[in-house]
Amino acid sequence: MAKTVTGFSKWSKAQKIEWLAQNFFSDPQAAQAALTAWHRPEEEQKIIDSFTENAISNYTLPFSVAPNFRINGKDYAVPMVIEESSVVAAASSAARFWLDRGGFHAEVLGTVKLGQIHFRWGGCSERLRALFPRLESHLKSSCDDLTANMRRRGGGILGVELLNFTHLEPHYYQLRVSFETCDSMGANFINSVLERMGDQLEYFLESEPELTDAERDVEVIMCILSNFTPNCLVRAWVECPVSELEDLAQSAGLPGHAAVDRFCTAVRIAEIDPYRAVTHNKGIFNGIDAVVIATGNDFRAVEACGHAYACRSGQYRSLSRAEVKDGQFRFELEVPLAVGTVGGLTALHPLAKQALEMLGNPSATELMTIIAAVGLAQNFAAVRSLVTTGIQDGHMRMHLNNILLHLGATEAESEAARSHFQGQTVSYSGVRAFLERLRAVPV
Ligand code: MEV
Repeated sequence: MAKTVTGFSKWSKAQKIEWLAQNFFSDPQAAQAALTAWHRPEEEQKIIDSFTENAISNYTLPFSVAPNFRINGKDYAVPMVIEESSVVAAASSAARFWLDRGGFHAEVLGTVKLGQIHFRWGGCSERLRALFPRLESHLKSSCDDLTANMRRRGGGILGVELLNFTHLEPHYYQLRVSFETCDSMGANFINSVLERMGDQLEYFLESEPELTDAERDVEVIMCILSNFTPNCLVRAWVECPVSELEDLAQSAGLPGHAAVDRFCTAVRIAEIDPYRAVTHNKGIFNGIDAVVIATGNDFRAVEACGHAYACRSGQYRSLSRAEVKDGQFRFELEVPLAVGTVGGLTALHPLAKQALEMLGNPSATELMTIIAAVGLAQNFAAVRSLVTTGIQDGHMRMHLNNILLHLGATEAESEAARSHFQGQTVSYSGVRAFLERLRAVPV
């Protein structure tokens, strides 16, 4: 029997759940109960449902906090939304570690966002170049009404560049438009301006009196922002004398200078080898994504851009660098971050609002510094564990809690399991067997 449907999006939420429960679940009643159990109070649910089409329930992730982040001398408790067990613990421990060593430093290197108008043109490129100054000013002024608000806030269109790609694709040119979008991520603003410019590009060329027919032959292929924003960039770093890092690898019994040496080597390996670099950068994005999500920003855009930036030399490399120079350890991260603190989900999502307030309602540039610092902290914690104790120790302690929860362990059973598995390999079957043995003992 076919399980397809027409007009699904028009149905009420209850109808959708009923249909799904009947058609795709072995126990329709249980499915209905599970899907509706996560609904929020009506008004809030309406807002959440409005984010996407066909929302039927909410998918919950923990909203956690990493305290003790001192960034440019200011203290933050950082909200993080992530499911991976040890990420928040690692960020918190790195924040605490650097609190006694001057905290994190960060500077925004640029805030330029980009958009593209891809088009075909039948004329010769010199002619287009000659027309370009007039075309550019026409395109900008034709968007005056759309950019008025943004200009009042200090942003708007920064410039338009004409690029010729006809050596790669016949007749293909591009207008690359740069924007300042102030505290907003600016995707809607940029796309509206680009679409207007696309229409006006066609209008301008088609209505130029002295152009030949071939030169009037213009076709806009698409207008869309680029998520590659290498000049919307932030740098975060920590530094201190190597002599202050004696406790870097205390738990592994490694002298501080040897641990620092190993740490820097590990970071260099991530610069040399893409296989390691991807995992290394994934660790950075564990922290970055968690704050990006908590603050209602677009983590797919941030990830896509970050990984493209990691390839800017032609090879995928580490986004962070570590060095010791004249007895001073410095660890830094440079990452593009196109985020906003006004508009979009930031104002709508009930918890994104709380997250931003917890951070003191930062500007977009301040948020960039916070996110970069958390990415660096996450990277610091991961690499420190990797070159000393290994990550499984901490990971498995957190994982053990998840397994115990899953197996319905009581507080007393959990205590017993935690002490039994200290220093031992944790596996689901091992914990289950331990609990079975424990439960078999008569009380
Ligand atoms: C796990 O989510 C992240 C790490 O693999 C990062 C790294 O290897 O640097 C621990």
